[in-house]
Parts: sequence; structure tokens; C-alpha cells
Amino acid sequence: MVSGSLTRNIGEMLVSAEHGRTTQIDADKVSRGAYFTTDAAWLNEPVEGFLRAALAAKGGRVLDPFAGDGHLLALVESRLGATTAGLDIAGGRWPTNDSLLSLPAEARDAVIVTNPPYLANHSASRKGVASLAAEYFAASAQDNLYKIALDRCLEASDFVVAVIPETFLLSGYPADRLVLASVIESPLFADTDAPALVACFGPVGQPAAQNILLGSEPIATLPELQRIRSVNAERPGRDAIHFNVPTGRIGLRAVDAADAETPIRFYLAADFDYPASKVRHSSRLMTYLEVPNLEPAKLGRLVSAANDILGDIRAASGDLVLAPFKGNDKTGRRRRRLDYALARKILELALASVSKL
Ligand SMILES: C[S@@+](CC[C@H](N)C(=O)[O-])C[C@H]1O[C@@H](n2cnc3c(N)ncnc32)[C@H](O)[C@@H]1O
Repeated sequence: MVSGSLTRNIGEMLVSAEHGRTTQIDADKVSRGAYFTTDAAWLNEPVEGFLRAALAAKGGRVLDPFAGDGHLLALVESRLGATTAGLDIAGGRWPTNDSLLSLPAEARDAVIVTNPPYLANHSASRKGVASLAAEYFAASAQDNLYKIALDRCLEASDFVVAVIPETFLLSGYPADRLVLASVIESPLFADTDAPALVACFGPVGQPAAQNILLGSEPIATLPELQRIRSVNAERPGRDAIHFNVPTGRIGLRAVDAADAETPIRFYLAADFDYPASKVRHSSRLMTYLEVPNLEPAKLGRLVSAANDILGDIRAASGDLVLAPFKGNDKTGRRRRRLDYALARKILELALASVSKL
């Protein structure tokens, strides 16, 4: 199947822009984000504690405005004795409502528990479903349907519990009402392995601790995570580090391997088992890089200082400042990717310590 991007039909997803290759996807399912939360791991102890307090404030009522097959509602009914109601744009099981546009006034009297559709504006085009989501993006400054859904839910109710993408943590979405967010590493959905967390929001004007947890384990607050990611380096100048240079003297494996034994790591080029000929301008996972102003004698120390800093960051943030990458490793831990912006900051910090020697 070959097709130019302008002539693609609905649901013809672009697989390779270079070769004009596409594949047909289920446009309705993708544009409506109809992936159901079939596993109960999202309702862990901290989330349950939050929900119980919220339910007490709202007479035990729960609304899911994106209810799908009702998995979330069935769980809060059976586990917490909640009185539940659902809405959906499709499926015929619930009253029909376009909840990306507005929620009914009754939402004010309920706790919202939901897993809304996820669809990034840029991937809507690639997936060939842009026309199905266009009206929502046209009416909002947000770049993903889940953020538009959060806007609607937070406007409508004092308490919102939402299963949303883990990338929410680094998205800059306003967190002034965020009481806690728990990253769930185990699979939550029957037919996608999208990395997710469950975010719990409280009323406007009340203290919101912004605690971030890995499952039930507290890791840091959101501002602490943001501070860890900002890595305060004494910067020797932006041009001092060049990424994706096949002849570079430093190797970078920027992604955890699925075997759980080969983590993200900086290497001396001679020790990095990756063909330099494969490095492209667009490489994001394995690469070589160059620090032109560094004397050869200091290279080894730079690599080990960078790995130490990376290790400290991973430990302090429970990995949550690194992007999730393609599901879990064989031990069930989420694989991570080090983006080059953070890799650069780590190297700058390592350079600052090595230059002092
Ligand atoms: C990710 S599924 C979640 C379903 C359910 N909450 C769960 O967790 O199993 C999203 C649901 O939102 C519905 N949906 C998508 N766009 C919608 C809209 N604009 N208004 C209301 N529901 C919508 C889809 O039909 C789908 O059932």
C-alpha cells in the first residue's frame, strides 16, 4: 500500500514517510481511545485512601464520563460500595454524551473516576484519524485528548481520579490540584501496553501535596522530580557536546535493554559494541557523541562521572524523570529511555566535575 500523506483515507496510518508506506488501523477505536482498563492494579492503597475520602465528601457517587465497558465503575462499586453512573459517546450502554466538549451539571455532585481517550494531536495525523479529532483540538490549546478530557473533568468536579499516560508527569499540565499520582508498572489494559499512571486531583484552593508514587511507594513530589530533571550544571557552553557523531569518542546506549541486564549507559567508544555506521542524524537510542574540547586523558573520567550522575538521578527519581520505553523488561520493570536533553545536562555536569581535576 503506497499513499501520499495528503491523499490518505481515514485510518490509513503512515508507517514510513520515506517510502510512503501505510497500514489500515481501526479508526473509530483509535480516535475514541477505546482501550479498556481491565486490570484492577490502579486501585492500590494510596488511590483507594484518596477515593474513600472523596466519596465521603460526595455522598458515595462516582461518574465515569468515558465509561466504555464500565470496568472502572464495576470495581469502585464492588470494592468501595460506590453508586455509579457512566456516559460515553458510543457503545449504546450509557447515556450518550460528548464529554470532550462538556459534562452535565450533575458531575458536580460526584467523584469522577475515568480513563479518558489518549491521542496526541501529532499522532492523530500520522494515524490518519486527524479529521475525527479535529474539532476537539480546534477548540483547545491542549495537544492530547487526555488533557482536554482532564480540563473538562476538573472544571466539572472537585475530585477527579484519572488513569492517564505516564508522560503526564513531564508534560507541564497544571498540577495545583494534584494530590497524588501513582505510576502503575503492571499491565492495566487488555489491548495496549501504554505506560500509565493514576492521578488523583482534589478541590480548587485546597493544599495539594503533588506526591508521586511508584505503585504504593512514595518517590518524590512533582516539584522535586522536576528539580532532579533540571540537573543544575555549571555549563561550559552549548556547543561543547555533539550527539550522533559516528566518529565520536563516547558511546551512549540511551535505552534499557529488555534483558534487564543492560541498562542505559555511557561508554568509551572502544568499549561500546554498536556499529558506528548505523548512527544517523535522527538516532535516539544508540549513538556516539563527541566532546571536542576534552583531552583524551580525561575521557574515561568523564564517562564514569556521567554514569555516576545518571545512577544518582535514577535512584532519586525512581526512574520517573526518564521516558517510558516499549513496555517492561523481563523482570516486569518498566524500560526507560534517556532523552538527549537530559543526557546533555548529565554530560555537562560530569564535564564540570572532570574539568576541575
Ligand atoms: C480508554 S476508554 C476507557 C473506558 C473505561 N473508562 C475504562 O477504563 O475501561 C475511553 C472511552 O471513552 C469513550 N470516548 C471517546 N471519546 C469520547 C467523547 N468525546 N465523549 C465521551 N466518551 C468518549 C470511548 O468510546 C471509550 O469507551
